[in-house]
Amino acid sequence: MTTPYVIDDRDKSLFQVHREVFTSGEVFEKERELIFADAWLYVGHESELPGKNDFRTRDVGGRSVIFNRDRHGDIRVLLNTCLHRGASVCRHPRGNQKIFTCFYHGWAYRNSGELVNVPAGDDYRTAPAETYGGLHSPRIESYRGFWFLNFSDDAPDLRTWLGTSSYLLDLAVDQSEDGIEILEGTHSYTLNANWKLLIENSVDGYHAKSVHHTYFEMMMELGQTPPMLGDGTVNGVPPAGIGTEFGNGHATLIYPGNGLPLANDNVARSLAELREKAIANHGDSYASAVFDLARNSIFFPNFVLIDLNFGMILRTIMPLGPDRTQVTSWQIAPRGLDQESLQYRIDNALTFWGPAGLATPDDVEALEQAQRGFSTRREVPLSDISKGMGKQQPAANDELQMRAWWRQWNYVITGERLPAEVAEFIPFEAREQQEAGA
Ligand code: FES
Ligand SMILES: [Fe+2]
Repeated sequence: MTTPYVIDDRDKSLFQVHREVFTSGEVFEKERELIFADAWLYVGHESELPGKNDFRTRDVGGRSVIFNRDRHGDIRVLLNTCLHRGASVCRHPRGNQKIFTCFYHGWAYRNSGELVNVPAGDDYRTAPAETYGGLHSPRIESYRGFWFLNFSDDAPDLRTWLGTSSYLLDLAVDQSEDGIEILEGTHSYTLNANWKLLIENSVDGYHAKSVHHTYFEMMMELGQTPPMLGDGTVNGVPPAGIGTEFGNGHATLIYPGNGLPLANDNVARSLAELREKAIANHGDSYASAVFDLARNSIFFPNFVLIDLNFGMILRTIMPLGPDRTQVTSWQIAPRGLDQESLQYRIDNALTFWGPAGLATPDDVEALEQAQRGFSTRREVPLSDISKGMGKQQPAANDELQMRAWWRQWNYVITGERLPAEVAEFIPFEAREQQEAGA
């Protein structure tokens, strides 16, 4: 290929991506090898494993893993493949088990990984436990209850990798003084489009008015202000919101007007109480950042956090092929919510973000259409992601957050480092202090 994958022209404020990256098998293989073998990948939240010996199996970075607590209560991740001849040692999505026994020939492993039983083990001159030890465990680290794994020993630690983007996780966790928890139920669906299209879409404020106009109209009929169309500035964030980046490809769009569509008084009151507690614990400015601003965030490469007052969603986006993508999504909520507020959030998760909700099918349709459009990539080779480039402060419906992700993608895939667009993000309460001191 002669054209570069990513064109980042600062003089013209032009940012383009070659459509080949959405269709090529070669790029897909490179991504598997370079991105998913070497980045911190979200595995799960500690609240999914409340007790000792609890486990969940899931696919992370294209590998089957067991996310579990061992008999001491320590969180682990084990690769779900038998050391004998490769079969899964655990075939259940979740449960509570001290021992995982491979169903093929019966090799058995403690839930901390050690191989503890081999049927007819006397037939081996060297005991398999001596040869193989136990199930492989990748590196794991957590930030405030969010667990990530990394298949590379060379990667920096998780905190270094997250950098200041950890602020976005703080804003989610601090919605309750007891933290957050994953709610029961997982949305799992596939789409016939390249995974990077959904990454873009997850932090795309530009498409909201056109693709989700049904939702916008519904809000207006209910007398509410749709996101990014209000007139109030919150914590220095204008109504149109801001797009910002955090280094390493992590980025977010932040906007005021974090409303509670269709909420009754009890739900509104219960949220107001959480807000009061957050003010008492963290001060006005931070509480306002938590509750009065909404955020759609991407943590490179494939972990999304959508954080609104009416519900919070975590999403992982995994390529299955150049034009096929697996999405897994969970709902998180402040711990200790009353039943009515919980139900309100669950309803929103189903009716808005669910695979049959108000938002997701429309998004999927847009992405699958784009993928079909890429059949003309020879004639029409470039996609444009320039919106808001060159602005001092891009808005939420600009495309800075996508460019930030793409620059990291480009760095990992090609080795070429493209400089960031805006200065490092300063948390809102720190800005306030700076301004007060100035
Ligand atoms: S493959 Fe697991 S015991 Fe043979
Ligand atoms: Fe959307």
